[in-house]
Amino acid sequence: MGTIQARYDASAARYRRWWEPVLAPTAVRVLDGEPPARADGSAPRILDLGTGAGLLAIEAARRWPAARVIGLDVSTGMLGVAGREADGRLGPDGRRRLEFVAGDAGRLSFDDASFDLVVSSFVLQLVADRQSVVAEVGRVLRPGGRFAAVTWMAADHDAPFAPDEAFEDALDDIDYRDESEAEEERSGDYLSADEAATELRDAGFADVQADAIELIHPYDPSTYAAFLEEYAEREVFEDLTPSGRRRLRDATRSRLGKLPAEAFTWRVPVVQASGRRG
Ligand SMILES: C[S@@+](CC[C@H](N)C(=O)[O-])C[C@H]1O[C@@H](n2cnc3c(N)ncnc32)[C@H](O)[C@@H]1O
Repeated sequence: MGTIQARYDASAARYRRWWEPVLAPTAVRVLDGEPPARADGSAPRILDLGTGAGLLAIEAARRWPAARVIGLDVSTGMLGVAGREADGRLGPDGRRRLEFVAGDAGRLSFDDASFDLVVSSFVLQLVADRQSVVAEVGRVLRPGGRFAAVTWMAADHDAPFAPDEAFEDALDDIDYRDESEAEEERSGDYLSADEAATELRDAGFADVQADAIELIHPYDPSTYAAFLEEYAEREVFEDLTPSGRRRLRDATRSRLGKLPAEAFTWRVPVVQASGRRG
């Protein structure tokens, strides 16, 4: 059984190149709203749970010059990429205020009430026990501190993404049989915004707000073919002999080439949720 940690360790640089840009415009919206602040004027502390390549942590350090930011992730491979991204994108002051830490979102090694803001993008669907993660977030937030997160909402399977169906057809064209390993248990996508709101309220959060919004990303045939081969379906391509790989590449490009341009706009529902520690 493959672990989530091993998967992200193995794909960290490719994640940064192919997947983070798809998530980024939606993910950074969790940083909108009032800046974190402390009544005594000391530096507010922010935790980015499942920071990946550092997307929210780096943006928080850049956006709020007084804040101290920690990006936590279970994958040291991702943290390596995050550190290099931060080195390149932040000046010395921002870099000093940002730290990356290895750890599991379900067992945080931070003191009670030690953060003013906890943020997270596209992580809550991956954790094994989401309720215990939300409880841990409540524990490390100070009273009045905020949690803001975004993650996937279960999609309407009556409306599949045509380029993915085209890829499935391309797999059939070359008689590919899927023998990939099962992955370890995860919480999965939210079924609705209400489910996210209930989860936060059950964990003692107040001023809870949860909205279903859409992540929209425009691909084109050539970028999507490269995305499939280099990232999303890389293991399938790597499984094949060089000639099988060539056949799958040709079949994929041919199938994608028959779709109209508008079929390449990916629209998928996500839940954006926030609450304040009571
Ligand atoms: C889809 S990526 C999102 C990364 C980043 N937040 C972003 O929006 O680009 C999911 C990240 O969550 C991390 N992750 C998964 N389960 C975790 C856990 N239990 N504790 C900490 N990090 C976890 C993965 O290693 C991966 O880096």
